[in-house]
Amino acid sequence: MERKAALITRPVLGIESSCDETAAAVLAPDGEILAELVLSQIAEHAVYGGVVPEIAARAHLSALPSLVREVLRRAGLGFSDLAAIAATAGPGLIGGLLVGTGYARGAAIAAGLPYLAINHLEAHALTARLPGLSERQPEFPYLLLLLSGGHCQCVAVEGVGRHRLLGATLDDAVGEAFDKTAKLLGLPYPGGPALEAIARAGDPARYPLPRPLLHRPGCDFSFSGLKTAVAQLVAAQPPGPLPQKLAADIAASFQAAVTDMLADRLEHALALLPAANTIIVAGGVAANDAIRTRLGEIAARRGKTLIAPPLRLCTDNAVMVAWAGIERLRAGLVDEISAPCRPRWPLEAL
Ligand code: KG4
Ligand code: ZN
Repeated sequence: MERKAALITRPVLGIESSCDETAAAVLAPDGEILAELVLSQIAEHAVYGGVVPEIAARAHLSALPSLVREVLRRAGLGFSDLAAIAATAGPGLIGGLLVGTGYARGAAIAAGLPYLAINHLEAHALTARLPGLSERQPEFPYLLLLLSGGHCQCVAVEGVGRHRLLGATLDDAVGEAFDKTAKLLGLPYPGGPALEAIARAGDPARYPLPRPLLHRPGCDFSFSGLKTAVAQLVAAQPPGPLPQKLAADIAASFQAAVTDMLADRLEHALALLPAANTIIVAGGVAANDAIRTRLGEIAARRGKTLIAPPLRLCTDNAVMVAWAGIERLRAGLVDEISAPCRPRWPLEAL
């Protein structure tokens, strides 16, 4: 990696293809979103009840070129107008990463532009600094709670390229726990939003489900015990579809357990990083109202600001990739065109 601090005067193109969203965005040097598009593959994976890597890679391959052309058209730009091309290089599914970075690298070579290999987790982490998202751009260090289907971690964001993992899940990601529990309740994939919807009519106190790691030191997470408890509860019911009221009560009890666990982990994380004045929650689970509200209450009580970006910037998107590219470019962090994809790429390895 070369370090050459740069003043950026032209827009940056970002590409995201690490999981089941194909996305492209063009941002002005000041972070203004000139154009953005996200194509979700949920419909293609739903029949299988989860993301199928080969289907995802094929879908990225067929969608990406026209998606990039379309964001450039909407921004009124060509490749030669750009300052750099940024693509998610990991962590994620190798097929999608190869498609996105292959395209980005090819275009960068053809247009003579710098290439930026973006860590997807850093992109989520730096989204909080996107101008216009909050009253004041948060200063380092701040705390990131990444709550998605593939990731569940708590990170001290100390600077561009400088992150410290404070805790992570020991088993399932929180979104995965929502999806698996929803499946047990007979709800469609992705289960998180469906589970939240039925939980609204349920009694969260009806089933006292386990809350693994509650009050334990540190801020690791664990959800498999909770999921197993729900599986046993469902298995103990008479055969056939669960009555609506019962499913709603289980969903509400599950959501209450997860909310308690996340709240406890946030308290611990804040104790580990007292200098942080801002907390950002990212990932699809940040869409959950009960969770958002509870985390917001904890932040307020401690005099901290909680930023939950709008959903389209919370879930996988390319705006965050382009923005991370701008931040890295400014810091003089440009990658070699030969930078590899890394399906596993912990933030601390940056
Ligand atoms: O960040 P994201 O869109 O993508 C990946 O993880 O790749 O997160 C998706 C996850 C899924 O597990 C989904 O069930 C969960 O976020 N999710 C929710 C809600 N909306 C999405 N979980 C709980 N409540 C929600 N409202
Ligand atoms: Zn993500």
